[in-house]
Amino acid sequence: MNTNPIAVFDSGLGGLSVVRHLRRLLPNEAVVYFGDTARVPYGTKSRQTVVRFALEDARFLLQFEPKLIVVACNTASALALHELEQALPVPVLGVVEPGARAAARLAEGGAVVVLGTEATSASGSYPAALHALVPDLEVVSQACPLFVPLVEEGRGCDDPIVQLVADTYLTPLRERGVRVAVLGCTHYPLLRAAIERSLGPDVHIVDSGRETSLAIQQLLAKHAGLCRTGRPGSMRCYVSDNPDRFRQVGSRFLNEDVDQVELVAPERYATPLQLATDIC
Ligand code: DGL
Repeated sequence: MNTNPIAVFDSGLGGLSVVRHLRRLLPNEAVVYFGDTARVPYGTKSRQTVVRFALEDARFLLQFEPKLIVVACNTASALALHELEQALPVPVLGVVEPGARAAARLAEGGAVVVLGTEATSASGSYPAALHALVPDLEVVSQACPLFVPLVEEGRGCDDPIVQLVADTYLTPLRERGVRVAVLGCTHYPLLRAAIERSLGPDVHIVDSGRETSLAIQQLLAKHAGLCRTGRPGSMRCYVSDNPDRFRQVGSRFLNEDVDQVELVAPERYATPLQLATDIC
C-alpha cells in the first residue's frame, strides 16, 4: 500500500473533470492538484511554452512526494509528456494514451474524430497514439476552440449558443462515417450532451479523463500502490491565480465543493527566467 498522494495538474480548473472520476474510482486516495490559472489557456500557446509551463507545474507538485503525477490537461499531455517523463523522478501519466486506447477499441473499422484545443489538434499526438494501435485507422482532428470559453462562462448543454457552436464544428463530420469521438480536452465532458446531439446517435463518446482514471487504478493495483486506509482521501488544490473563481467554477467540473484552495506565489512555481520575462 502507498499512502502518498496522487498529484494532478492542469492549465486551470478543467483538470477537475478528471479528478471527478479519480475520486469516484479511488475514494481513499489523497489528491493534490495544481491549476495554473494565471497562465491558462495552454490550448492556444506554442509547444515551447506549454513544455516549460508543464515542467514548472509538475516540479511544483514534487514537494508533496506524489506516487505519480497525472497530466490532466490534454494540451500538456499532447505537447509535453515526453519531456515530463524524462525530467521527473516519479511515474507520469497523460490523458492521450488512455483516451486513444479506448477509442481504438471502439472504432471497429469506422473513423475516429478527436476533439481538442488548437494546440492539441496541431500536435498530432492523438492520431500518432491511435495509429500506433491501429495503423490504418481513419482519424480526424477537429479543433473546437470556442468550447473552453463557453464552459468557463457557465454555459451548458441546453444553451442554444452551445448547440449552434457544436453543430458548426461537428455536423460536417456526420458524412465521414465517424464511429468514435474522443473528448480530448478537459472542458468537453461538460458539453457532452450537445456534442452527442451534433454527431448523431451512432457515435461512441470517449472521455479521456475517465479512461485515464481507469488506467491509474490499474497501474496502482498492479504495483501494490493503492491506498487502502478505508478513509475518504483528502483533496488539496493550489492555483497560480484567483482561488475564489477556481472554487466557484471548479465545483461544476468536480461535481462536489472545492474546499481547500491555496494561492501560490509565482516564485514557487515559475523559474527565474519566466519571472524575468513576465516583468519585462
Ligand atoms: N486544459 C486544457 C486541455 O485539456 C483546456 C484549457 C486550455 O486551453 O488550457 O487541453
